[in-house]
Amino acid sequence: MENIVTNETVIRIVNRLNQLGNLSDDANCLSRFYGTTAHKVSGDLLISWMETAGLVVTKDGIGNIKGILQSKNKKAKHFVMGSHYDTVFNAGNYDGPLGILLGIEVVKRILKENIQLPFHLNVIAFADEEGARFNTAYLGSSVLVKEFDKTWLERTDDDGVSLNDVINENKGDIDDIFNAFIPKKDWLGYFEAHIEQGPILCKENLPVCLVSSIAAQTRINIEWFGECGHAGTYPMDLRNDALCAAAEFVLEVEKIGREQKTNLVATVGKLNLEPNVSNVIPGRVNHSLDLRSPDDLFLVAITKKLKRKLLEIARRRLLKYKWSIMQANPSVLCDSNLKQALGRSIISSGVNQLIEIPSGAGHDAVMISKVAPVSMLFIRCKAGISHNPLEYVAPHDIAEALKVCDNFINEIIILENKKSNKHE
Ligand code: GLV
Ligand code: MN
Ligand code: MN
Repeated sequence: MENIVTNETVIRIVNRLNQLGNLSDDANCLSRFYGTTAHKVSGDLLISWMETAGLVVTKDGIGNIKGILQSKNKKAKHFVMGSHYDTVFNAGNYDGPLGILLGIEVVKRILKENIQLPFHLNVIAFADEEGARFNTAYLGSSVLVKEFDKTWLERTDDDGVSLNDVINENKGDIDDIFNAFIPKKDWLGYFEAHIEQGPILCKENLPVCLVSSIAAQTRINIEWFGECGHAGTYPMDLRNDALCAAAEFVLEVEKIGREQKTNLVATVGKLNLEPNVSNVIPGRVNHSLDLRSPDDLFLVAITKKLKRKLLEIARRRLLKYKWSIMQANPSVLCDSNLKQALGRSIISSGVNQLIEIPSGAGHDAVMISKVAPVSMLFIRCKAGISHNPLEYVAPHDIAEALKVCDNFINEIIILENKKSNKHE
């Protein structure tokens, strides 16, 4: 098949990445949390790009932007290419949007070549994958697979605004959240192209590779309740300093993480302190705990171990605590058939070596795997830097990735056509 990845296509992707990168709620850096103004404007832009490409586009109650290219076959299943359009705070331009924009280009090519699809090809921009606002990742993809938990609507952000209120403010339809799913029987598969967010492709000098699996992840919110007091008068040995307790625990998290080497990464990335005044003993601390492991049982065991440690610190320091599991997702294996097809596509695109690596980062594929076979392509990003404004993908790697995406969707079309020919 003719390879139509042109300079013009890559320039369009790069320009669009930059356009989205300029849509931020913070004047000093890229920050596009779920449900904010920048988030909504970027969703509108994605709708216009999808429509221009020839997709029929809808937006569901949570804010997923769903473009579909229908097959003429009424019994056709759905194949979904997707990624997310929310970001972390102080983000880079590529984490999420690159996968969406590649999907849009694949659709453009299919229409240009007038290819008949044996399945409905969907390009979906998920509204929330990072979970940066409500500490619940995959809000978008959970809706698509009917895994959205009603209790999440009551969760509040740092300003006390609930998810329910954010959806209403954005004129989202709460009922639609429970109806906007693709039934399990109608799924053919899911494919996500995403930056690697790690250094292996740089080390191996490769533009892209297969993803073997996605690590299990548990997010916990921890609150320490001590006693505020005067920093000048209260004796050191009588204090119930919530920050000192949290600090002791954070170092324990690091120690256990370091001991485990490749089996665990453990991070406290967010911490709020009250009253946060220099001459008052901290009375309350609230912080996150993000634990990931390729080994599900190990992650459960280490979570229990850390909770025991927390209990011990709280008892010794005479503090109360609250331990709330915000989300717990098991590890996910990428589907072997899709992986083989993707591997062939990588090789036929001219990449001279095929490697596969596990993902420590979470992706919407985690949610989708509950109902469909999933596959992922990793794309090299400079020095493996991500969740950082220095995130960068070279245009020639974007071109390589698009070639692979094109070849992969062609492979799936051929495989599906073969299947239906057999059944005729
Ligand atoms: C998302 O990037 C995550 O892995 O938390
Ligand atoms: Mn991502
Ligand atoms: Mn991310």
